[in-house]
Amino acid sequence: MKPIVAQVLGRSRFAEEALASAVGRGINQYVIVGAGLDSYALRSADPTGRLRIFEVDHPDTQRAKRQRLGSLGIALPAQLEFVAIDFELQELSEAMKGSSHRRDTPAFYSWLGTTHYLTPQATLATLHSIARCAAPGSEMVLDYSVPLDLIDPDKLRDLLWVERLARRMGEPIIGNLDPARLHADVAQLGYEIVEDLAAPDQVRRYFSNRTDGLAPTPACRLLHLRLP
Ligand SMILES: C[S@@+](CC[C@H](N)C(=O)[O-])C[C@H]1O[C@@H](n2cnc3c(N)ncnc32)[C@H](O)[C@@H]1O
Repeated sequence: MKPIVAQVLGRSRFAEEALASAVGRGINQYVIVGAGLDSYALRSADPTGRLRIFEVDHPDTQRAKRQRLGSLGIALPAQLEFVAIDFELQELSEAMKGSSHRRDTPAFYSWLGTTHYLTPQATLATLHSIARCAAPGSEMVLDYSVPLDLIDPDKLRDLLWVERLARRMGEPIIGNLDPARLHADVAQLGYEIVEDLAAPDQVRRYFSNRTDGLAPTPACRLLHLRLP
C-alpha cells in the first residue's frame, strides 16, 4: 500500500500548500469536494481564522463522519459547514445554494481521491459546474489517474494489483484521463492550468532523500487550475 499512502499524503500537501498561498492572496472560502475523512477543518490549519470551510459530500458519508467525531468527543469548528450532495443526481452549483458560500467572492476548491472512481464525463460535468458558480480568481486542485498505456511497463504490475483491489472493494478505477486531452477540455471550460505534477515531479518535490522508499503511485497526477 506504500504508493497509495504516499499518494494520499502528496495530494493533500499539494492542495494545502496551494490553499495557503491562495489564503495569503485573500481567498477566504475553502470548498472540499468529496471531503470524506479530510481533517483540514479539525487541524485548524488556517492561522487567520477567517477561512470558511465547506465540506461537500454524500449525506451518508457525512452522517458517518459526524457520528464518529461525536463519539470521539471532537467538536466541529465554527467555520465549518457541511453541504450534502449526490453527484449522480445533483449539480455542485445547486447544492452550494443551500449554504453560506458566496458566488461573488473567489473560493479555493479541492477535489481529491474521487475522479478515479467517476466517468470522465462526470468529472468534466463537475468541473463545468464549478466554473459556472465560482467567481473569477477561484482556484481548484484535483488528482487524477492517467491511462495505463502511459505508464512505464516496469511499474505496471503493482498498478494492476491496485486496480484489482479497487474492483474487489466495489470501487473500480474507471476515470483514467489523458493529460493532453484533459488540459484541452478544462481550457474549454475556462480554466487556466497553473501546474500539473506528474509522479516523478511529486517525488522530487515531496519524497526525495527518503530512506524508506515511500513514493507515490506513478499513475496519478496533481492538477492545479485557476479561473481568470
Ligand atoms: C476516496 S474518498 C476521498 C476522500 C478525501 N477527499 C481524500 O482525499 O482522501 C471519495 C469521496 O467521494 C464521495 N463520493 C463518492 N460518490 C459520491 C456521490 N455519488 N455523491 C457524493 N459524494 C460521493 C465519498 O462519499 C467519499 O467521501
